[in-house]
Amino acid sequence: MMNRSLILGLILVLSTATAPSCHGYYSKTVPYKPRPQKVTHLHFFLHDTMSGNNPSAVLIVRPNITNTTNFGNTVVTDDALTVGPDAKSEVIGNAQGLWVSTGKNFPTLSVYMDFGFTQGEFNGSSISVFSRNPITQTERQLAVVGGRGKFEMAKGVANLKTIFVNFTSGDAIVEYHVTVIHY
Ligand SMILES: *[C@@H]1O[C@H](CO)[C@@H](O)[C@H](O)[C@H]1NC(C)=O
Ligand SMILES: *[C@@H]1O[C@H](CO)[C@@H](O)[C@H](O)[C@H]1NC(C)=O
Ligand SMILES: *[C@@H]1O[C@H](CO)[C@@H](O)[C@H](O)[C@H]1NC(C)=O
Ligand SMILES: *[C@@H]1O[C@H](CO)[C@@H](O)[C@H](O)[C@H]1NC(C)=O
Repeated sequence: MMNRSLILGLILVLSTATAPSCHGYYSKTVPYKPRPQKVTHLHFFLHDTMSGNNPSAVLIVRPNITNTTNFGNTVVTDDALTVGPDAKSEVIGNAQGLWVSTGKNFPTLSVYMDFGFTQGEFNGSSISVFSRNPITQTERQLAVVGGRGKFEMAKGVANLKTIFVNFTSGDAIVEYHVTVIHY
């Protein structure tokens, strides 16, 4: 049987062990030990479809101004990612998030999207894109700022090429070549 002072002593030891600082929400800052990183290249096609009765991209905010660049328009997406340019080719993931028209005088987007994969090695993993997207350039680059699962601690770039766009309907098919450095 433990006596009262032994129990109090244990509580004191345990509480100091779990609360190293007086505030208790952060660890001691120590030098960072880098882990070896790997590189993976990804290639797929994104289908952003605003038209029809089953759109993958839906306008959720439109400011009350008349503006040729659609400044402020905000769209939520669940765009299919496929292995080929044909929408009927194998779906390997989806790009969920937002794109916003952020150019006041020239059409440009900013994108905040999570590209998640549903097939093969990277099923359940995703990469985060947070970037300007100058859509009037056929070839352009987006920043990959992070990732989940097998793409933990990811950083990289996505090189985009528009292979189809209809500015009236808002539909587009974009080829992605992504280089991701990750754990
Ligand atoms: C939109 O803007 C116009 C012009 O400024 C104004 O008359 C109108 O009341 C606004 N509509 C809404 C819903 O705020
Ligand atoms: C779009 O709206 C912004 C903000 O009101 C304004 O600065 C810009 O000149 C407008 N552009 C066009 C082409 O109307
Ligand atoms: C992908 O992962 C999910 C969740 O673990 C699983 O249900 C599904 O069967 C997997 N799909 C493939 C094609 O491996
Ligand atoms: C572009 O979209 C508009 C509106 O949905 C449609 O009328 C037109 O046929 C489309 N053009 C092409 C080339 O797909």
